Amino acid sequence: NNNNVTSLKVASPASNVAVELADIDWDNLGFGIMNTDYMYIMKCSHGENFSKGELQRFGNIELSPSAGILNYGQGLFEGLKAYRKHDGNILLFRPEENAQRLRMGAERMCMPSPTVDQFVEAVKATVLANERWIPPAGKGSLYIRPLLMGTGAVLGLAPAPEYTFLIYVSPVGNYFKEGLAPINLIVETEMHRATPGGTGGVKTIGNYAAVLKAQGAAKAKGYSDVLYLDSVHKKYLEEVSSCNVFVVKGNVISTPAIKGTILPGITRKSILDVALSQGFKVEERLVSVEELLDADEVFCTGTAVVISPVGSITHLNKRVSYGGSDGVGRVSQQLYSALTSLQMGLTEDKMGWIVEL
Ligand code: COI
Repeated sequence: NNNNVTSLKVASPASNVAVELADIDWDNLGFGIMNTDYMYIMKCSHGENFSKGELQRFGNIELSPSAGILNYGQGLFEGLKAYRKHDGNILLFRPEENAQRLRMGAERMCMPSPTVDQFVEAVKATVLANERWIPPAGKGSLYIRPLLMGTGAVLGLAPAPEYTFLIYVSPVGNYFKEGLAPINLIVETEMHRATPGGTGGVKTIGNYAAVLKAQGAAKAKGYSDVLYLDSVHKKYLEEVSSCNVFVVKGNVISTPAIKGTILPGITRKSILDVALSQGFKVEERLVSVEELLDADEVFCTGTAVVISPVGSITHLNKRVSYGGSDGVGRVSQQLYSALTSLQMGLTEDKMGWIVEL
């Protein structure tokens, strides 16, 4: 009922007055784009540093047809989330980690990048400007998408002469249509996501276009997504199209080590620490595809997916199923609860990961 939705008000930490939430169906958020009020834009020339950005009304941007990002894929993105706490305060999760990862990626892609402080301040400003789009506590989060791109015009292959750092946001719910129900993966045996020495370890836009074909084929066969193997030995796990992968056996939680072909996920890193603090043994190493056969549980982590339990994995026509009676394994459930209650401000932040606005 729309009248109820428009009358939803929450205390605002920014202004100390009640803020009227956007008139949308907060109970049925998926992971889709919704146009919000403001975006953040900051520009600089090649060889210079970013200095000053500004909030603008959200809308289309103008690009030269020969912009570096359009022609040669000189672009990176980030993803992080803001949660609304029950008391109305707004929480970010480890935003400085995204800033640092963007800086690493920018170095690989020959782009200037904002400082950690510039990044975090820009994220805060964008979130506060779009405050009415942050879902009520427990209904989802505000997904924050920073972009760094070569927007200057080039024709010969070279770094673009001008760069734009942009942030937009969108309210989101669950990433996979399964919600928190287990997803079904298929191991990709022909196509690869990344190669040693390539850009698989940074969040460049091209890494994500490269997985669409295998992902589309998997979805057409009824799978949720694809699990990639390394391109050299074709036997070690890498990651799923948009998330990292973990294998649980007894008290040991293993995940592929970061070695340049795997995205260094911030949720991945956080889950390793949470698991350690809960008494699990954690291993970052080569994890062979055979290990899936006798694993107790498998789960995926990412900013967008948070933690997604894996219900089954199909490899060369063999299907292995995991999890308890409802398909959600005990360890996946335990880590999911620990991480999300921290992110939503329901448990004390002993790690110092939460930035409160
Ligand atoms: C995220 O998890 O935030 C990502 O950047 C993955 C993206 C494909 C949604």
